[in-house]
Amino acid sequence: MKGLILVGGYGTRLRPLTLTVPKPLVEFGNRPMILHQIEALASAGVTDIVLAVNYRPEVMVETLQKYEKEYGVSITFSVETEPLGTAGPLKLAEKVLKKDNSPFFVLNSDVICDYPFRELAEFHNAHGGKGTIVATKVDEPSKYGVIVHDLATPNLIDRFVEKPVEFVGNRINAGLYILNPEVIDLIEMKPTSIEKETFPILVEQKSLYSFDLEGFWMDVGQPKDFLSGTVLYLNSLAKKNSDKLVKGSNIVGNVMIDPTAKISPNAKIGPDAVIGPNCIIGDGARITRSVILANSTVKDHSLVKSTIVGWNSTVGKWCRLEGVTVLGDDVEVKDEIYVNGGKVLPHKSISANVPQEAIIM
Ligand code: GDD
Ligand code: MG
Repeated sequence: MKGLILVGGYGTRLRPLTLTVPKPLVEFGNRPMILHQIEALASAGVTDIVLAVNYRPEVMVETLQKYEKEYGVSITFSVETEPLGTAGPLKLAEKVLKKDNSPFFVLNSDVICDYPFRELAEFHNAHGGKGTIVATKVDEPSKYGVIVHDLATPNLIDRFVEKPVEFVGNRINAGLYILNPEVIDLIEMKPTSIEKETFPILVEQKSLYSFDLEGFWMDVGQPKDFLSGTVLYLNSLAKKNSDKLVKGSNIVGNVMIDPTAKISPNAKIGPDAVIGPNCIIGDGARITRSVILANSTVKDHSLVKSTIVGWNSTVGKWCRLEGVTVLGDDVEVKDEIYVNGGKVLPHKSISANVPQEAIIM
């Protein structure tokens, strides 16, 4: 089987992290986001994965080549010279996707869940339509594509409304599809939105179905959701009794810590924390509902709460970081500083308090 992952876009909503690393390579649960998807595709029997890229492909080529062997898949890069949107990339990769005339998967690269690819393929093959969208329920549907159903045929989609202004329902497009090869014939080789242009045609043809997702789901393309998604992901690991979670006298709730990190026995970690490789957490430090990326240090007695600390950063002693603060790569926060909802660009040093949401550049 084949799969295409939409990896384009500049990831602006995940800045300042994406100023250093393309969104799909930002570590979620201590692994590049896209590896969660590659692994799930591979374990569902996918052998050919196309990454549709339009931004800094070199970094990704370098990072991902080494995973081809590990997961037993062939990864090819389909590079756009101009951003082709969410449908154009399918046309560009037509040769690979039409290879054996069987259905292929399409994934948004910023979506985290227990990917149901095997079940999705079975469901799709059984209904005989041209496409199936994975659906999930959310409280705030306005920032997603909403799926409305025909009452007569179960799961047949009646209407698809991308980013509705008025409430039409709360079952949304989870950003995972399986499509028949002939769907590519509906797409022109130009910037095109699958949500706004292709899905409405399939709806009109009464050939687009939805498949309900079980369990957690989150689009982790912005900091607040990245943190919520982390909480859900850790919770799902806990339910599976995963050995990726650590236990200890200074650990509270669901926590993931890379084995190379050095945590003071007097620090308190959790609930809901992810600590990356080579991180150092000092005496009396407190990390909760936060992600500390590789090679960063949180010094003694600091509190890090609802925060993402980017790579190679240092948080001084007696600091307090909270309110969806995000530090970019190589940031220094001096001792005793308070940051509430600050987004700090790479290589900055913070020596004054940031009491409310602000971009520090
Ligand atoms: N190759 C390529 N080229 N990929 C692109 C381009 C492009 O020009 N533009 C966007 N993408 C990729 C993004 O990287 C992301 O993986 C995916 O397409 C969707 O784009 P987002 O910018 O993340 O869209 P969204 O989150 O606002 O909405 C989409 O996802 C929701 C679920 O999270 C839509 O598909 C919604 O319908 C859906 O509910
Ligand atoms: Mg998104």
